[in-house]
Amino acid sequence: MKRIFFLILSLVSILGLITCKEKKPIPELEGFVVKSVIHPSNNPFNQEKVELGKTLYFDSRLSFNQDVSCASCHNTASPSEGFPRTKIHNPAPSLTNVALYKDVFKDPEAKELEDLVKEKVHSKLLFQNETKLVQRISSIQGYKELFEKAYGDPEISGERIVLALSTFQRTIVSKNSNFDKFVMGEETALTPAQIRGWDVFQNKAKCIQCHQGPNFSDSELHTTGLAGIKNKVRTPTLRDVTKKKTFMHNGIFGSIEDTVNHFAEGGHSKAVHDPMLRPAELSDQDKKDLIEFLKALEGEPIQWEIPSIPKA
Ligand code: HEC
Ligand code: HEC
Repeated sequence: MKRIFFLILSLVSILGLITCKEKKPIPELEGFVVKSVIHPSNNPFNQEKVELGKTLYFDSRLSFNQDVSCASCHNTASPSEGFPRTKIHNPAPSLTNVALYKDVFKDPEAKELEDLVKEKVHSKLLFQNETKLVQRISSIQGYKELFEKAYGDPEISGERIVLALSTFQRTIVSKNSNFDKFVMGEETALTPAQIRGWDVFQNKAKCIQCHQGPNFSDSELHTTGLAGIKNKVRTPTLRDVTKKKTFMHNGIFGSIEDTVNHFAEGGHSKAVHDPMLRPAELSDQDKKDLIEFLKALEGEPIQWEIPSIPKA
């Protein structure tokens, strides 16, 4: 009898352990979790292409005067540090999760990133002249091997440069944040303040109208009530936003507090407004909680090893 009792007891406790350990995702929030990035079928992923793309990204020979690389402006280690303002007016946006904008999740053929990158490579800032760029890269011995590993043959073309840069950028992904863990069933991943902040974000402040989905962006253009700015800007990701030092496309705010205040107040009173941008009656506690919530969107640190750039 005693034996059976112990048997039942241990069965119950084992069952208890199993159910305790089993994490249940919150189904209605799963659409907010960063899962894997889709690489389009016309630019499939391979690790060698990532390495090539990363090398090109850090190579200033991609610019006409050999003085700037993509990384000089889009500093991946500390997102969005404004680079030489003499060269360009605005700080470069963070490329974190750049592959998650638009419908890249749903549409594996979406080619927007390649188009954007091509535009950049061809811009005045960088090279402009594709033939000359290809000549220059082809004259660097070390690149032949890198192209061969990535594409199976050593041909170097403008298109292959763009494809490799795009594949690399698709790997700049911020994920496994405490928020993602919470949604996937780890109840203690968020602090009480962060849970309150998430509630303010959705309900009282309605930030979620524009900042939604895995990238916390609707990928749409909006005016955001900045004084003197009439043009629309695409909603940026909020992932890793609390790691930034300047905020908004023109770097106008130097702290996350000022940025959140701006949105909580519904923008500058004399500026052009998006109809979705309304002042919300937020208490100081609400704003603090909102910022705590934004911190929960910081992903696992992305480890960068600066590649060795092939010499001439
Ligand atoms: C001199 C600074 C500078 C350099 C160099 C530079 N960028 Fe940019 N980049 C910017 C700025 C500023 C923007 C935002 C305004 C715009 O789109 O022109 C931007 C935007 C982008 C975007 C669009 C991001 C988005 O969220 O829409 C991509 C992609 C991009 N750059 C990739 C690159 C790549 C790849 C290189 C190297 C081949 C590069 N950039 C070099 C400053 C720079
Ligand atoms: C009408 C759509 C909309 C609403 C509502 C909205 N945002 Fe934004 N948000 C944007 C856009 C667009 C930008 C980019 C503005 C720019 O770069 O000038 C932005 C930028 C930001 C930034 C700076 C990001 C960066 O990388 O610099 C933060 C932080 C932010 N929003 C938080 C919030 C919070 C918190 C709320 C709610 C209180 C909110 N937003 C409500 C559209 C919106």
